[in-house]
Amino acid sequence: MLRFPRQLQRYDSAADCCDRLAQRLETHLRQWLSMPLALRRPLGLATGRTMEPLYAALVQRLMLWSAADLDELRQRWSSFNLDEYLGLPAGDPRRYSTYMSRHLGEPLQLPPETLHLPSGGAADAHGAAQAYAAELNACGGVGVQLLGLGNNGHVGFNEPPTTADQSCHVVDLSDATRRQNSALFGGDSAAVPAQAITLGLHEILAADEIHLVVTGAAKADILKRLLTLPAPQPGLPASWLLNHPCVWLWADADAMDPP
Ligand code: GLP
Repeated sequence: MLRFPRQLQRYDSAADCCDRLAQRLETHLRQWLSMPLALRRPLGLATGRTMEPLYAALVQRLMLWSAADLDELRQRWSSFNLDEYLGLPAGDPRRYSTYMSRHLGEPLQLPPETLHLPSGGAADAHGAAQAYAAELNACGGVGVQLLGLGNNGHVGFNEPPTTADQSCHVVDLSDATRRQNSALFGGDSAAVPAQAITLGLHEILAADEIHLVVTGAAKADILKRLLTLPAPQPGLPASWLLNHPCVWLWADADAMDPP
């Protein structure tokens, strides 16, 4: 029997959805700080418009912590992002590293080196993908993983078709994905980088707990496909999550119950 999702969290609005998930992440971070060092696995973070209200809600909550607790969080922080574009210059506002600094690193004053992302500027992109996987592995792999959902079913930048055993790799982005992400590139999908580095399903499925966030009417079709699939299939990368024992789906009414 399919266990997917283990928990369905459905809210009327994307704001409610993100606030409740932020609450859960805050609780996780509190527990995480009290764990022995050897048991603390890094947070797995995602980018995209879906995550913006989530990070805003999380920052708002964490900024209410005492100065001592916040200091400890800053000293202990360790997160690994799913993906990064290749070929954008350092500091480019459209790089995911810039996104993470803007939405999480700067507001929380986290040491920049504790927010890990694949190296989008590396001359040897394949080597950079392998090095990123090794770095994550050396930290024990991801504990709690956040995921958004691409309109074509991608998670991270795992484009269809993809298999469950694929590790961190260089990926050619599909036309659909470049179109989906073109807003930040003046609406011109040809200006969106053609390649990226992404963690694979292998690293994603190794997380203890996965939180898939799907909001907005534009995701209703792909979410319906995902929820009605009888078994994982390479053509819908997110469907490999059906094999994971602990996926929480956080969805709003627009994505879950379209008119
Ligand atoms: C992007 C990112 C993913 C993100 C997804 C959804 O291409 N690589 O990590 O989760 O697509 O993006 P959005 O939230 O903007 O719809």
